[in-house]
Amino acid sequence: MNKIKKISFFIVVFCFVFLGIKNTFANEKELKTIYSAYFEKSELVKGWSNIVEDNTKLWYQNDYPLDFKIGLINQDKNLTGTISYEVKPLNKEWISKKENLQEIGTYISKDGIEAIKIKLTGDLNKLYDVYYSVLQNGEFGEWIKNGEVSGEENKGKIIYGLRISVIKKGGGLPQESKVLASNKKEDKSKNFIIENKEDVTEDTGKKIALTYDDGPNPRLTNRLLDILKENNAKATFFVVGLNAKSNFDTLKRMYAEGHEIGNHTYAHKDLARQSRESRYEAIVSTNNIIKDAIGVYPKLIRPPYGSYNKETIDILKELSMSSILWNIDTLDWKHKDAQKIIDHVLKNAKDGDIVLMHDIHETTIRANEVLIKELINRGFELVSVSELSKNRAKIEVGQTYNSFKKK
Ligand code: NI
Repeated sequence: MNKIKKISFFIVVFCFVFLGIKNTFANEKELKTIYSAYFEKSELVKGWSNIVEDNTKLWYQNDYPLDFKIGLINQDKNLTGTISYEVKPLNKEWISKKENLQEIGTYISKDGIEAIKIKLTGDLNKLYDVYYSVLQNGEFGEWIKNGEVSGEENKGKIIYGLRISVIKKGGGLPQESKVLASNKKEDKSKNFIIENKEDVTEDTGKKIALTYDDGPNPRLTNRLLDILKENNAKATFFVVGLNAKSNFDTLKRMYAEGHEIGNHTYAHKDLARQSRESRYEAIVSTNNIIKDAIGVYPKLIRPPYGSYNKETIDILKELSMSSILWNIDTLDWKHKDAQKIIDHVLKNAKDGDIVLMHDIHETTIRANEVLIKELINRGFELVSVSELSKNRAKIEVGQTYNSFKKK
């Protein structure tokens, strides 16, 4: 190493170390709220909860807080002031102010709290806004700040959770709130609206095939497999060879858990618009990859874009394969909107349908967390494509199907 190299090496190292320290320092210095609530019924927490940090949704399923304590961390020693708070227990008067992690002492009443006011005092009140919102009526309400009342007073309704955040004046509203690990699942599904809940029927004869194309994606597909497993549901995956060849574990899991695996070509090119040779290669190489992963060749193919021609059919006949299209298209790849996927499928789902989705989009996976449960609630059995065809239509080699209705 010559001298110049040595010097520039040390400069680089120095910059990294310096920036690293500076960043840690900056984070430590940021004023934040910390808070805890007193719960009595939850299986997860009895008594005071763990203290959570700024902008976390503090709540537990099937429980409600009886008391709060709220404080601050990283307060600049040169700044006067603290955080103070008052609560209104259900059907009672406001309780006098407490501050800086003092317990309010309401948990003796056991009826819950209907509203809260939080304020900063001293210099802090001049430099920062404190925002807060309560979980009431099934959702976290809008952010309220600096001593205004959050929660409905005198309506007989209690608070189920709380979130608090401090922001420098002029910094706008708090970012999206953190969710407690134990609430993650519930919190996600809370964001979706299930329409026509009263239409739920118990017709157990209804079957539907959910199909997922373009994967596997190791992270998202495995999340989807978790959801299917939780709900004891089966599905069909039309995999792209290019993705499948580096994700044998995911394919093995699909197969082991009773799902069907189909071919979606090697590189997702339009089968009708390529030479005979490359068309053949796109199908056969993917069949081989699937066979290598799970030990059997796929019987089904979904042509990319639903596009195929007579020559494609000739190849399918030669390979003893059949083509599976769909009759419910979620367009999930286009709008990437979980609520739209849920709405579209629930509105259109009928016995014998084949639903097209893609397990490579986060929004599709989130939609399925709600959708799969709700389809089952509505009396559908979620089955693979081959299972759906049973007692309905024989899947013939070289033929194309887009649904399997009862005869
Ligand atoms: Ni596709």
